Amino acid sequence: MPTITITEASVRDVDTDVLILPLLAGADDAPASVPGSPEISEAIAGLDASAARGDLHRIPSFGLAAASSLLLVGVGDEDLAEVSAEDLRLAFGAATRSLSGVERAAVALPTGSADQRAAALEGAALGAYAFVAHKSGTGAPKAALGSLSLVAEGGADAARAAVDRSSLLAEVVDIVRDLVNTPPNLLFPASFAQRAEELVADLPVTVTVLDEEQLAEGGYGGIVGVGQGSARPPRLVRLEYAPTTAKRSVALVGKGITFDTGGISLKPAPGMDDMTSDMTGAATVLGATIGAARLHLDVKVTTYLALAENMPGGGAQRPGDVVTMRNGKTVEVLNTDAEGRMVMADALVDAVAEEPDLVMDVATLTGAAVVALGKRTAGVMGTEDARALVLTAAGTSGEPFWALPFPAELRADLTGRVADLRNIGERPGGALSAGIFLAEFVDETPWAHLDIAGPGFASSPLGYMGKGATGMSTRTVLQVLEDLATGSAA
Ligand code: BES
Ligand code: MN
Ligand code: ZN
Repeated sequence: MPTITITEASVRDVDTDVLILPLLAGADDAPASVPGSPEISEAIAGLDASAARGDLHRIPSFGLAAASSLLLVGVGDEDLAEVSAEDLRLAFGAATRSLSGVERAAVALPTGSADQRAAALEGAALGAYAFVAHKSGTGAPKAALGSLSLVAEGGADAARAAVDRSSLLAEVVDIVRDLVNTPPNLLFPASFAQRAEELVADLPVTVTVLDEEQLAEGGYGGIVGVGQGSARPPRLVRLEYAPTTAKRSVALVGKGITFDTGGISLKPAPGMDDMTSDMTGAATVLGATIGAARLHLDVKVTTYLALAENMPGGGAQRPGDVVTMRNGKTVEVLNTDAEGRMVMADALVDAVAEEPDLVMDVATLTGAAVVALGKRTAGVMGTEDARALVLTAAGTSGEPFWALPFPAELRADLTGRVADLRNIGERPGGALSAGIFLAEFVDETPWAHLDIAGPGFASSPLGYMGKGATGMSTRTVLQVLEDLATGSAA
C-alpha cells in the first residue's frame, strides 16, 4: 500500500519518477491525446498510440515534464467527461499495477472533475498492490509502488478528501487481499481468528471467539460437521462495532473455509489450489467492519466469521450424515462439498438473533454463480429491499453486481428424506438453491446474500486487480454500511 499525498505543483513541474496521465482516443482519424496537455499530445501524435481502457504507454518525458517518465493510460473514450468513475479506477489501476519496483508516481487528471480525479486516485491506490510476503528475495521480487501523489490542480480540499478516502479504501481492500492470498497451510481457523483480533486491536471493536468445544456445546452442527475432518478445528468469530449514537444496525456474515478440498465428496485435483480463497467472504466482512470503525460510521455492525477447514480426514462427516443446526433444524449432508451453506447457516442464525435492520452475508458459495454470471460479476440474492440496497451501493462503488431470483419451486428439492433439509438441490440453478437453503435460517429479517465465487479470486489481472485475491465486494459492503449510517438508504 503506497503512501498517498497531494502535490500542488503543475503537471509540468511534479517531481516524481513516473507521472501517470490519461490518454483519450482521437475522434475520426485524429491521434490519441492527453487532455489539457497540448505539448505532450503533439509529441505523441506520431505514435499512433492505442487508447483502449487500460492500454499503457510508458515514455521518457523528454523535457516535457519534470517527471523522469510519463505513463499514458488509455481511458477508452474520446471525451473525458464521458468516462465513468469505475472505468477510471480500472484504467489508473492498470497503470500502477505496472509500476511494481518503482519508488514514486503521481496521478494527474487534467480537465477531469473532482469526482473523476478521486476515482482515478482510488484506482491507482488499489492497483498498487503486490503480495510478496513469501518471496525469498532471490528471484528479484518486486514490491508494489512505494508512494503516490495526486496532482491537486486547484481543488486542494477535494484532493484532501480523495487522498483520505483512497488511502482508507486501499488499506481495507489490501487487508482482505493479504488474508485471501495467505497460503492455506498458514491461514487456518485458529490463525485467522487470531489475525482478526490483531487487526482490530486498535479499534473500538470487540471480539469473541468460539472454539470447537464451545461450538459443539452451542449446537453449531453445521460448523462442527464441516470442521471435523480437519486436524485444525473450526472457530466462530464475532466482532462488534457499536457506536453509542448509532440508530441502525447491520449484521454481517462471511464464509471462512480456509481450504475447501470438498471433504469426502472430494474435488478433482485441477484447480483445487484456488480453494485457498474459500475464506474470501469472511475476509471481506472483516475488512468492511474495520473500514466502518475507521470511518467512524454511525451504524452498529455485528460481524460473524464462520471459519472451518473442509478436509477428508478420518473424523470427517460422511455423505448422508444428519446434523442438527444452531436453530434446531436438521440437515442431511448429501454432499460434503456443499459446506459453505452449512457453516453460513449456523452463523446466520446468530446474526438474525441480534435483530438487526439488515443481515448481509458474503460467500464464495457456488460454482454455479460463476457459470451464471462469469468471473467478474457477483450475484446478489435475498429479500427485495435488501437486494436493492446492495445494488444501489454497488452503483456507487462501481463493482459489478447482478440480482438473482429465488424461484419458489426450487425449495422442494431441499426437503430431506430423513431430516428437515438436504444440503443440495438440483444442479440447475445451483446458486439459487444455495441461497434458498440459507433462507431457511434467516426468518423475516431483511437479508442480502452476496455470492462472490467468481470475482473474489482472479486467474488473470484486470484494471486495479492483479492475479489472485481481488478484494472485490469489500467496497460495496462498506458502501452499504455507509449508506445506512448517513441515512441515504432509508
Ligand atoms: N467453494 C465452493 C464454490 C466455489 C467454486 C467457489 C468455484 C469458487 C470457485 C463451494 O464450497 C462448492 O464446492 N460448491 C459446490 C456445491 C455443490 C456441491 C452443490 C459447487 O459449486 O460445485
Ligand atoms: Mn465446497
Ligand atoms: Zn466452499
